[in-house]
Amino acid sequence: MKQHVDLLLMNIGQLLTMESIGPKEGKDMQELVMLEDAVVGITNGKVVLIGERESEEGIQAAEVIDCQGKLVSPGLVDPHTHVVFGGSREHEMALKQQGVPYLEILKQGGGILSTVEHTRQATEDHLYEKAYFHLDRMLSHGVTTAEIKSGYGLDVETELKQLKVAKRLQQNHPIDLVSTFLGAHAIPHEYKDDPQAFLDEMVGMLDLIKIEELAEFVDIFTETGVFTVEQSRDYLTRAQEKGFGLKIHADEIDPLGGTELAADLGASSADHLVGASDEGIKKLAESKTIAVLLPGTTFYLGKETFARARKMIDEGVRVALATDFNPGSCPTENIQLIMTFAALKLNMSPEEIWNAMTVNAAYAIGRGEQAGQVVVGRQADLVIWDAPNYQYLPYHYGVNHVNTVIKNGQIVSR
Ligand code: NIG
Ligand code: FE
Repeated sequence: MKQHVDLLLMNIGQLLTMESIGPKEGKDMQELVMLEDAVVGITNGKVVLIGERESEEGIQAAEVIDCQGKLVSPGLVDPHTHVVFGGSREHEMALKQQGVPYLEILKQGGGILSTVEHTRQATEDHLYEKAYFHLDRMLSHGVTTAEIKSGYGLDVETELKQLKVAKRLQQNHPIDLVSTFLGAHAIPHEYKDDPQAFLDEMVGMLDLIKIEELAEFVDIFTETGVFTVEQSRDYLTRAQEKGFGLKIHADEIDPLGGTELAADLGASSADHLVGASDEGIKKLAESKTIAVLLPGTTFYLGKETFARARKMIDEGVRVALATDFNPGSCPTENIQLIMTFAALKLNMSPEEIWNAMTVNAAYAIGRGEQAGQVVVGRQADLVIWDAPNYQYLPYHYGVNHVNTVIKNGQIVSR
């Protein structure tokens, strides 16, 4: 008797299954779980078999894809994005070229605050269509699960508008989306002289966000000229008490101590970490907090110094990678480009990079049991790459290597 499947991927050169119980810590990130010459069977949107070439004989498939020796991996997971926003910021390029720092642009009312103006003016439908377009691009680059933040409203009405857009996208877009409330992304003009009152207003939204299931995580930008470590501690503690998972934009530009704070609070992730101190890295290694590194942002901010990924991995930190896609500090949906930055600027090996963009990225957003691995019984989220092996992607940069994206067993991009 032959086993019936809906879809059979045959003739896979390398199949990165990434099988792992829990996130990969430190040096364990050097292990890559993979099979050569493999086949994968999919039925009802789930992986039902993973085998060697020989097992093909006993399988009858409604549809077959001959992978012709290509690389196949889990759908990539992008655990830090700001996809819902109005407008764009190409006019800031000239300021950057004149050497005006990112935080100075923000101080002058530009940067995040300029995107806030556009987002406040935009209709919900416009934001939805625009974000859908960006998500399609992410999908076409191999992302099948992603996090999506609010944070360009900075008032109750617009933050809710963004979160509602995120929820509609969750329901309608093929990418699985995990929503984060980033109301504490900057200090709006109205509260310039009283940031605490602004944070209190954002805390006031949390009950509604919980009831309406508009976000799972709460995030804050802990940075010079934005929110202090003390304000962040108080804000995040209040969010934690209400049952939210925590994330922090920590030590992105100035080393304030957001990394230590994330470890202290048991945050799900600490993101950026360019200025993380030795003590912060040590604390992260002792915690369960995942370090989400965003080298595309450091590159785009024109910085020389990148996050100390090598030290983090050597000390046992769980490292993930993300795009940070947003209109200011990292306007790209191309997560494959981030692989190259991770290789050249963070000195991560291809094995570490793949773990960081699959297993660890999924755990960073609470989806470790659903996404980031090709395992029998899980949702069939897979990418067939026009690449002969896994080392090829960080190496050949700036173009899209996707051949086919499969989400829940359906071909969604090719
Ligand atoms: O992760 N640093 C704060 N937030 C984003 C940038 C947002 C923006 O510039 O619009 C970041 O870099
Ligand atoms: Fe960000």
